[in-house]
Amino acid sequence: MAQTASDAAPPPSGASAPHPVLAHRYARVEEREGFVRALFDQTAPHYDRIDRIFSLGTGPGYRRRALREAGLKPGMTVLDVAVGTGLVARQAVAITGDPSLVTGLDPSEGMLAEARRTLPGVTLIQGKAERIPLPDDSVDFLSMGYALRHVADLGAAFAEYRRVLKPGGTVLILEIGRPESRLAHLIERFYMGAVIPALCWIAAPRHRSGELMKYYWETIEACVPAETILGAMRDAGFRDTSCATELEVFRAYIARA
Ligand SMILES: C[S@@+](CC[C@H](N)C(=O)[O-])C[C@H]1O[C@@H](n2cnc3c(N)ncnc32)[C@H](O)[C@@H]1O
Repeated sequence: MAQTASDAAPPPSGASAPHPVLAHRYARVEEREGFVRALFDQTAPHYDRIDRIFSLGTGPGYRRRALREAGLKPGMTVLDVAVGTGLVARQAVAITGDPSLVTGLDPSEGMLAEARRTLPGVTLIQGKAERIPLPDDSVDFLSMGYALRHVADLGAAFAEYRRVLKPGGTVLILEIGRPESRLAHLIERFYMGAVIPALCWIAAPRHRSGELMKYYWETIEACVPAETILGAMRDAGFRDTSCATELEVFRAYIARA
């Protein structure tokens, strides 16, 4: 089931972007959305393989554990923002026990095409975090995996998350963060900024997977700190905000509406 929604709204003025313009990738802030969408459209058929390389096969288990620990239970309705090929949504279906309870949202047609193959029964909607085509108070649980760095405006995205969640509902945002210690930063920079892009270039030399992972690392390095993200969640009206970090890099932001 696929739906489409207009997502042509301009970015709000005074937007709080998660990272500044990366001028060697796109020249102006208005070009970022198109750059990101084309990158994900073109790498979508390879994304699951990239994830397996990057996470050494631990990705599905980590996502399922994070959903459970944040409180996802059988019977709950879920909106997975930035569904991509469905790596978080698949785990949400396994926990809720019913694909019709899960909805996936993503701006990339290429990603949605992959998700359609692997997520039978899940409603898939083309759209973006900053403008969600769902009614107020309509979901119990909202997840977003490894995509917060791509939104145009943290405040607009969190206001939408708060709007579509039922009172007391939960938001879970999984992200990779820049480690604080110098040694861990150097290791992460080498692994994510050099090793992973090189492996992707070897695995799929004619595609943009290496570039995707280079960009992935650049956005992590340039991203605002966890406290800024938590502050933006509180400003949007979320309570009980927290950020759990594992191995200095794997972050799980959780809050209640
Ligand atoms: C790294 S993939 C993550 C996919 C999946 N959630 C996972 O856990 O692997 C990032 C996804 O974010 C999507 N995306 C980019 N900009 C977005 C936005 N403004 N709102 C929602 N999703 C966005 C991309 O199209 C892409 O599918």
